[in-house]
Amino acid sequence: MNSLLETPVTIYGREIKNRILFQPMEGCDAENGAVGELARRKYLRFAHAAPGIIWFEATAVTPEGRANPRQMFLNDSTKESFRSLISDIKRISFEEHGFSPVIIAQLTHSGRFSKPEGTPAPIVAYRNSLWEKGKLEQPYVIASDEYCAALPEKYARAAALASYAGFDGIDVKCCHGYLLDEFLSATQRPGRYGGSLENRTRLFFECIDSVKKSIPDNMFVTTRLNACDCFDYPFGFGVDEKNQIDLSETKIIIEQLRRRGIELINITLGNPYLIPHVNRPWNKGPEDGSVSLERIYEVTKSISQSFPDLKFAMSGLSYEGENAVSYASRIIRNSIASFAGFGRMTLAYPEFFRDSIEHGAPDPSKVCLKCGKCTELMRAGTVSGCAVRDSETYMPYYKKYVLK
Ligand SMILES: Cc1cc2nc3c(=O)[nH]c(=O)nc-3n(C[C@H](O)[C@H](O)[C@H](O)COP(=O)(O)O)c2cc1C
Repeated sequence: MNSLLETPVTIYGREIKNRILFQPMEGCDAENGAVGELARRKYLRFAHAAPGIIWFEATAVTPEGRANPRQMFLNDSTKESFRSLISDIKRISFEEHGFSPVIIAQLTHSGRFSKPEGTPAPIVAYRNSLWEKGKLEQPYVIASDEYCAALPEKYARAAALASYAGFDGIDVKCCHGYLLDEFLSATQRPGRYGGSLENRTRLFFECIDSVKKSIPDNMFVTTRLNACDCFDYPFGFGVDEKNQIDLSETKIIIEQLRRRGIELINITLGNPYLIPHVNRPWNKGPEDGSVSLERIYEVTKSISQSFPDLKFAMSGLSYEGENAVSYASRIIRNSIASFAGFGRMTLAYPEFFRDSIEHGAPDPSKVCLKCGKCTELMRAGTVSGCAVRDSETYMPYYKKYVLK
C-alpha cells in the first residue's frame, strides 16, 4: 500500500521523495508576524514526520491584509525567524530520513477576511450581498485599481524574503475567498480587474509574474487554487446558472498557469467561513462528510484528466481518518492526483504516514476525529491546533476561549 506513496516524483526539475503533502494549516500563533514557539513546535513535529512537501501556512504580504494579528507576516523584521525554522526542518528531516521536504511559502492577502488588529477591516474585490447579509453596517473598502496595481510588488517582496528564508517554492494563494480568489468572481466590478475572465484573473497573474521575476532560478512558483467556490450563482466562481459546478473557467486558468511554466497546483474548493463542510469535510456538517469528500475527488479528477502533464494535490483527506493512508494510495494509483494533501491529520498525528510505513497502518487511536475543534479555536480568536490528540498543548486554549 505504502510503496506507491513512497514513489518519488519530479517537479520543477527536483525530486520529491514521497507523495504525502502537509497542507497549509494556520496556527494563528505568530509573534508580531514572526515564527513563535508554538509554530516552531508544530513544524518540527512535521520535520520528524518527513512528508515529501510541507506547504507552509498562510503568510501575509502586507499588514492590512492579515487575517488576524497573529498571522505570519514575512518582512525584514521577521525573516530571520523563518530562516532559522526552515533550516531546522530541513536538517532534522535529513538527519532522520536522509532527505529534506520541499517547503512552499503560501503568500496571501486576506481581503474580505482581513482583521489586522483583531477587528474587521475588510478589503474587498466587490460588494457581495451573500457575504454582507446582516453585516451591511460594517464599513467595507473596495480595493481600488491603484491598490491592486501596487500588490504584485508586495508579493514579489515577500517572495524575495521567502527565498532568503530558504523556502523552495512560492504559492501565490488563490483560494478560500481571500483577495485573489475573490477577484475570480468579480464579474460585476468595473475597470481593469473585473468583468471578463481576462480582467478577473489579471491581479492573480500579475502577482505570479511578479513573484517569478523576484526569485532565483532554483525556486518555483505554484498556487493553491479554488477550483470552484460552491456558492449559488452569481455569488461565486466555478458555478453555472443552475448552481452546478462548472470548471470551464477554472480550466482556462489552469491552461494559462501551464503556459507560465507552473507544474504543480494544489486543488481546493469552497469557503471555510460560510460552507466549511465543502472545504474540510467534518462530522457535524449539513451533508455527510463522504459526500463533501467525493465532491473534492470528482473536481480534482476532472482537472487531472484535462491536464495529464501537470501535477496536482488533492485536499480533504483527513476525513478518511484511519483509512486516510489507503485512500491516499488509491488516489495516486487512479491518477486522481500526484500528491495526497493532509491538513487536520497533521495537527492531530503528524507521524501517521511514518507509522503506516512501519506498522502497515496508522494508529486508529491517534487519527484526526474531524470534530472541527481546530477550526473552532481559530474562530474564537486564539491559537489553533488539535485540542483532542494534542490536548496538553491546545485543550487549555479550547477551555479558555471556546468553552469559556
Ligand atoms: C485550523 C485550520 C487552518 C487552516 N489554514 C489554512 C491555511 O493557512 N491555508 C490554506 O490554504 N488552507 C488552510 N486550511 C485548510 C486546510 O489546508 C485543508 O484544505 C482542510 O483542512 C481540508 O483538508 P483536511 O481534511 O486534510 O483537513 C486550514 C484548515 C484548518 C482546519
